[in-house]
Amino acid sequence: MKKETVLSGIRPTGFVHLGNYFGAMRNWVRMQDEYDCYYCIVDWHSLTTHPDTRELQNNVLRLLSELLASGLDPERCVLYVQSDVPEIAELYLYLNMLSYKGELEKTVTFKDKVRQQPDNVNAGLLTYPVLQAADILVHRALKVPVGKDQEQHIEMTRNFAERFNHRYGEVFPMPKAFSYGSELIKIMSLDGTGKMSKSENQMATLYLADDDELITQKIKKAKSDTLPVEPNSKKTDAVENLFGLMRLVSTQDVVEKFEADFNNCSIRYGDMKAQLGEDMVKFIRPLRDQAKALRADDKYLKEVMEMGAEKARKSAKATMKLVRNAIGLKYF
Ligand code: TRP
Repeated sequence: MKKETVLSGIRPTGFVHLGNYFGAMRNWVRMQDEYDCYYCIVDWHSLTTHPDTRELQNNVLRLLSELLASGLDPERCVLYVQSDVPEIAELYLYLNMLSYKGELEKTVTFKDKVRQQPDNVNAGLLTYPVLQAADILVHRALKVPVGKDQEQHIEMTRNFAERFNHRYGEVFPMPKAFSYGSELIKIMSLDGTGKMSKSENQMATLYLADDDELITQKIKKAKSDTLPVEPNSKKTDAVENLFGLMRLVSTQDVVEKFEADFNNCSIRYGDMKAQLGEDMVKFIRPLRDQAKALRADDKYLKEVMEMGAEKARKSAKATMKLVRNAIGLKYF
C-alpha cells in the first residue's frame, strides 16, 4: 500500500532552538518510516524577512547538519532545499491567483511581521502563506507536522486547494496539521514572554548549538516564581514552563520528585533549575556535537542536497503535470 505523504518546512534564518526541535523536528524524525516524508529547507521564505543573503548559505548548511544530527535520514526521507525545486515557484504563481488580499492581510503571522519590519512590508511577506501552500501541495501531502503557530497557514492551504479543485478539477487532497501528542506543543521562552523564538531574547532561548555552560547559565536565569504557600497550588506560567521542559528531558522520577515538592510547598527552584540544567545539557550535547561534525563535511552535505532535490523534483513534476492539465495550459 502506498504510504501517506507528509511535508514540512523550516526556515534557514537562525539557529535551531528547542521550540523547533520539540514543536516540529522530533515529529519529523518519528514519521520517517510510517510515511512518505518530504522535508524542506525553505530558503525562499527566508528572503521575505532576510533580504541580505550573506549568511544564507552558511545557515542552510548548518540547518541541514542539525536536521541530520536530529535523526533525519536522507535514505528514509526526502530532505531538500526549496530553491532547488522550481516547480514550487510555478505552483505559487497559480495559487496567487486564487488567494485574496483581504484574507492575506488578516493572517496573524503577517500582522506580526508588519509590526516587526514596518519598512519592508513586501508582497512576498503578504503571500508567505501562498508559498507555504505551494510547498505542501506540490507533493499533494496529507499531513503537515508543525507547531501550533502554523495552524492558520495550513487552514489557508486547504482553502487554496479547495478553490483550485473547485475551479479546475480535483488535483489536491486536503492537508492537515499533525502532531503526535493530542495537542500541538508550544515551548515558551525562559523569560516567560511568549514562545521560544529565533529572533528575540537569546538568553531566553535554548539553541541546539549552545555549549554546556551557556545552557546551564540560561536555565539558571530562567524566570521562576515565589514559592507556593498553599498545597497543590496552580502553577504560574513560568513555573509550568520549567516543568514542561523537565518533562521533555528529565526522567520521570525526577519530574515526580519536583512535582511532589511543589505540591507540598517545599520546592527549591534553585535545585530544580540545577537538575534541569544538567538534564538539558545531556540532551543537547550529542545533537550539537554531531551537527558540528556533519557541518565540517561539505562534500557529504552537498550529496544529501543533490539527492533530495532530485527526489523532490520527481514528485513535484508529477503534480505540476496534473496542475497544468487541469488549468488547460497545454498548447501543443
Ligand atoms: N512557515 C513555516 C514556519 O515558519 C515554515 C514553512 C514553510 C513550512 N513552508 C512550510 C512549514 C510548509 C510546513 C509546511 O515555521
